[in-house]
Amino acid sequence: MFLLIAGLLCFTVFTVIVTNKGVGEAISGRGYKEYRLGDYSHWLQNYVINEKHWEKIKSCLIDAQVCKSLGEARHESAADFYKSSLSPTESGCCKPPTSCGFEYQNATFWTVPKSGPAVPDGDCKTWSNNQTVLCFDCQSCKAGVLANIKKEWRQLAIINAGILVFIIVVYSIGCCALRNNRSDRYHRHKSSV
Ligand SMILES: *[C@@H]1O[C@H](CO)[C@@H](O)[C@H](O)[C@H]1NC(C)=O
Ligand SMILES: *[C@@H]1O[C@H](CO)[C@@H](O)[C@H](O)[C@H]1NC(C)=O
Repeated sequence: MFLLIAGLLCFTVFTVIVTNKGVGEAISGRGYKEYRLGDYSHWLQNYVINEKHWEKIKSCLIDAQVCKSLGEARHESAADFYKSSLSPTESGCCKPPTSCGFEYQNATFWTVPKSGPAVPDGDCKTWSNNQTVLCFDCQSCKAGVLANIKKEWRQLAIINAGILVFIIVVYSIGCCALRNNRSDRYHRHKSSV
């Protein structure tokens, strides 16, 4: 029981530390947030989103057609699109980062200004209007996936903390009962002698 408590405690503390860093960045005049990979903990970057895993995650995202609803359901103006709220993966994977300064045609089709991207961000070059490529190789896409993972791990940490408190209470009651039982028997034994 003690080992279980210690193990659960370590795991809970670990999830809290690993998911401590990283929030979506609000952009003025936009309903959605931008996500940057550098904002997330190194552990998540190195072990969850590394090259080996990314190929698999990327093909999942493409198979799940995460950008489909953005691309086809809404034929909206630029102003409407800027006001809409996007999920982290939609924001990171389906459109180029706002800082690139690309011109909106539709959610998954953007024209690069003649002067080139506004900032020398690698994601601006990685972006493609090819509807099967989009920004799936962008750092922002990885960050969007991490934002989801972070949220889920946060919930897991809260559930773990609840279970931990419950087990500790049961453990303490169990210990008390055992001790009382023992001293009871001791007294009874003494009085009968
Ligand atoms: C987005 O715009 C491009 C270029 O105008 C067009 O080829 C494409 O079909 C449009 N996509 C959608 C989903 O409307
Ligand atoms: C889009 O990208 C895919 C995969 O890289 C490629 O097979 C396809 O030919 C590209 N389509 C166009 C229109 O460039």
